[in-house]
Amino acid sequence: MTTGATPPASAWVRVCAPSELLPGESRVAWDGDTPILVVNLDGTLYALEDRCSHEDVELSAGTFDAATASVECMLHGARFDVRDGSALCAPAYAPVASFPVRVDDTGVWTRDDRG
Ligand code: FES
Repeated sequence: MTTGATPPASAWVRVCAPSELLPGESRVAWDGDTPILVVNLDGTLYALEDRCSHEDVELSAGTFDAATASVECMLHGARFDVRDGSALCAPAYAPVASFPVRVDDTGVWTRDDRG
């Protein structure tokens, strides 16, 4: 999670109100063409590209499991660590991109910071 000075609003995409993303829940937002899955893991927010690295499938269609800090792809069962996007099991070996998240009084925000 990122804190500190507020960046230009145009650089960040609003995901939802803070009250709409409670522990164990997830939301999807889009930054341009990039789908971003934002999850609340025991009160800490993380954002991953919502696209399995095995094939082009939305991870948000799978299962977010807070107990293992992972999201499981619904197509072939690969799992990714929501904290850094690393692949935890086959058939996915490449990580998915992780993105910054910040929270303020107006909402939960994320962005594709890959340039
Ligand atoms: S598409 Fe996700 S595991 Fe195959």
